[in-house]
Amino acid sequence: MRRISASENVRRYGAAVLAAIAALFLRKLLSPALGTENPFHTAWAAVVLSAWYCGVGPAILAILTALMGVWYWFLPPAGSFQLANPKAGISGMLGFAVFSCLIVALGEANRRSLGKSRWAEEQLRRAHAELERRVRERTAELSAANESLRELSGQLQQLRDEERKQIARELHDSVGQSLAALSMNVGTLQSQSRKLDLAGANAVSESAAIIQQIGKEIRTISYLLHPPLLDAAGLASALRWYVDGFSERSKIEVKMEIPAEFQRLSEAMEITIFRLVQECLTNIHRHSGSESATIAIRQDDHSVIVEIKDAGKGISLDKQLELSSGRTGVGFRSMRERLRQFGAELNIQSDRSGTSVSARIPLQSGTVSPLEREKAS
Ligand SMILES: Nc1ncnc2c1ncn2[C@@H]1O[C@H](COP(=O)(O)OP(=O)(O)OP(=O)(O)O)[C@@H](O)[C@H]1O
Ligand SMILES: [Mg+2]
Repeated sequence: MRRISASENVRRYGAAVLAAIAALFLRKLLSPALGTENPFHTAWAAVVLSAWYCGVGPAILAILTALMGVWYWFLPPAGSFQLANPKAGISGMLGFAVFSCLIVALGEANRRSLGKSRWAEEQLRRAHAELERRVRERTAELSAANESLRELSGQLQQLRDEERKQIARELHDSVGQSLAALSMNVGTLQSQSRKLDLAGANAVSESAAIIQQIGKEIRTISYLLHPPLLDAAGLASALRWYVDGFSERSKIEVKMEIPAEFQRLSEAMEITIFRLVQECLTNIHRHSGSESATIAIRQDDHSVIVEIKDAGKGISLDKQLELSSGRTGVGFRSMRERLRQFGAELNIQSDRSGTSVSARIPLQSGTVSPLEREKAS
């Protein structure tokens, strides 16, 4: 319950007494119309007002003031505290006092319930404000956590690329070179296979074929892990090499539209676009059922636009919903993460006539001249 200050008390008691005095004066003014009968008419109003607005103490003071005033001014003989008809005077005053007390009790009960509901409202408002503050805090914490997760995932993506590049190099340089040496040795054996019996000669030539096959596979794995053309000749050449291999393996006809004068981009951007195309083509092969695909890459002053389309069965609406809420698909998620580093977004449009995946990647500092690239490496 709230505490009432001394100045507020003075105001409440003062107001109650003033209401009683005003009621007495009003009764005096109305005397010609109302006569001397029932002198408490206006005093009731003062009691109700003070009970409602000022509280128990001030209302009782107002009752006493009105009672004394009526006794003095209106009960005959007027202007004295004597009573011409003590029985009627006292019963009238007692009646006024009893009913006034009832009004005060009702007023107080009402004031208390109002006070309680105001208090409850205040508590509710505070709880609401506290809740909002906590939600704001949590949201800020969550977005900070999200931000650092994004940073982490970007760094992981970079590390993965670096590692792929390293493994690709190791496979090519170390295993590839050993295989080349082995192949030469087997070649020597093959040239002398006349000295061997038929089974021996067959084993040697089979081994030569197997070594060649392993060499081819290792080269393919190494190139897919990190196409050397990407560093040496740029995105367009690396994509052409990849698309040719993809078409051969999957029997999907791929049309690639990329301008001849397409300039070199930063290493991070080239690998991002390469992986985007790689993932989309893999998806087309695995999920679309399409027999053809189109890749279009072009540049304007501010951005690189990449679009990969197929003429397959499309992505079902349920799946699209899952994809847009980020609940499924490591492939699409990692594309999105890669693009986010450049402030770009992935757009997926799909219906029964096929799927189109596109992105507009702002160039910012993403374009580098071949000279700069050479210096950097
Ligand atoms: N071109 C497409 N045509 C039809 N459905 C597709 C196509 N591309 C993707 N999808 C659907 O979208 C889903 C998500 O693709 P996403 O590449 O993210 O994951 P995934 O290919 O299933 O697995 P992975 O993590 O190996 O890439 C797929 O499972 C497939 O149902
Ligand atoms: Mg995929």
